[in-house]
Amino acid sequence: MTTPVTITFAETDLDHIAGFEGRVAVFITEEGKLDLSARRVNRLTKGALNRMIDSGAVAKMKPGDLTTLNWPAGMAAKAVDVVCLERNAKTDEARKAGVALGKAKGKDALLALAGQVRRPEDVAQGIALRAYKFTARKTAEDEVVEPVSMMVSKPAEVEAAAAPLLAVAEGVFFTRDLVSEPANHLTTTEFAKRISDMKSLGLKVTVLEEDKLESLGMGCLLSVGFGSASPSKVAIMEWNGGKKGDAPLALIGKGVVFDTGGISLKPAAGMEDMTMDMGGAGVVAGTMRALALRKAKANVVGIVGLVENMPSERATRPGDVVTSMKGDTVEVINTDAEGRLVLCDIMHYAQETYKPAAMVDLATLTGAIIIALGHDKAGVFSNDEEFCKTFLKSAEAEGEGAWHMPLDPAYDDLLKSNIADMKNVGGRAAGSITAAQFLKRFVRDDVPWIHLDIAGTASVKAETAYAPKGATGWGVMALNRLVADAYEQG
Ligand code: BES
Ligand code: MN
Ligand code: ZN
Repeated sequence: MTTPVTITFAETDLDHIAGFEGRVAVFITEEGKLDLSARRVNRLTKGALNRMIDSGAVAKMKPGDLTTLNWPAGMAAKAVDVVCLERNAKTDEARKAGVALGKAKGKDALLALAGQVRRPEDVAQGIALRAYKFTARKTAEDEVVEPVSMMVSKPAEVEAAAAPLLAVAEGVFFTRDLVSEPANHLTTTEFAKRISDMKSLGLKVTVLEEDKLESLGMGCLLSVGFGSASPSKVAIMEWNGGKKGDAPLALIGKGVVFDTGGISLKPAAGMEDMTMDMGGAGVVAGTMRALALRKAKANVVGIVGLVENMPSERATRPGDVVTSMKGDTVEVINTDAEGRLVLCDIMHYAQETYKPAAMVDLATLTGAIIIALGHDKAGVFSNDEEFCKTFLKSAEAEGEGAWHMPLDPAYDDLLKSNIADMKNVGGRAAGSITAAQFLKRFVRDDVPWIHLDIAGTASVKAETAYAPKGATGWGVMALNRLVADAYEQG
């Protein structure tokens, strides 16, 4: 997998600055205040930083902005990256400064002079998150990415504070890699293997194969994979870091490794983007990885449905009626509305098997959520105000966009079927809400539940706050914080 760049922490050593051959980063306040190490860089460069301040260039910078001085005289460095950051910066500002550095860094070595930075661990996480590139399917890419060293005060303390943050970055990278992989490489079998490999981190992993899914009665999930040569699977990851017997939080993910639409075939233009239709499962797997790496003191179970939606002579037809594990029958009007068929069975299974304290499902479920919210915010649907609020706070704290959408029985009429208990689509109007209403039928009233429609946020065509264009890993940080804030206290 793509691992985050190596970051080490050491005491400030001013005499090490002049000879460093990569990029050197200095921090400067909005008023143009230089700290001790920035003053050393200023002296070495015969006042370049002072000239920058005097020119008014620094006054125009906002926290998180970066200006590069290339090939500075008086230093061995290739560049000096000047980053604007206030002395009393908050977490998100420090992380933003790191993001700017991670972007500028490329493959170069980086020495960040953060001796007087208040939250160097957050700067480190920002660097790690942004310095991502999916190179697994390139042959010519030379893989050497030079490391980051940060001069800080109290390096041992900073290192300890940075460890869980870098664990989360590794979880985010795991998700981005999965989402970036093409479907001929990330088959259902390969996905299950990558999940099983996380046993080495202390996760308990179980993979349910088709015969087992059949005996459990998961007729909806299985119907999605009928047309594919790849076997449908359900992978379960358990992290038991909490008190024995405490009901777990359940994370449920849609893992459609490729969505052609099935017999209700999608148009050719843009169909290649449907390699990301396993994004929900990717976020669940990445979150479980982060929780295991930082040894979270909570019980969490991740369950993902891994299937491929293909047309063939064995594929489900429009008009077919399938039976869910819960027992309800579903008329498949459109085989392209397959995500809800996958989720309904694993959500039911999760509640039957794990009696979760709460449940969150993630899915690249509807194109309609992109029409509603674009690519900056995921749709948040919930049957529980308190739980929903807690999640929205977690997402906000992590800078991951999320927006509360409505659920209402008024939309249920749209799912009425003439011949079965329900149909799988409700028409064009309110497409994301009818999808959520469909899922709600498989949630018990006493289980706090959130449905996250991440079709717009899982993979994007322009860079985001933390990621280059492509797979974002949206949701790993918010869910990790939800676990930390709501399940690890006490
Ligand atoms: N995987 C798609 C949703 C999607 C669209 C994800 C664009 C990412 C980007 C989902 O399975 C789907 O096809 N949904 C249909 C539902 C419709 C048939 C009711 C849609 O949104 O068009
Ligand atoms: Mn579809
Ligand atoms: Zn889909």
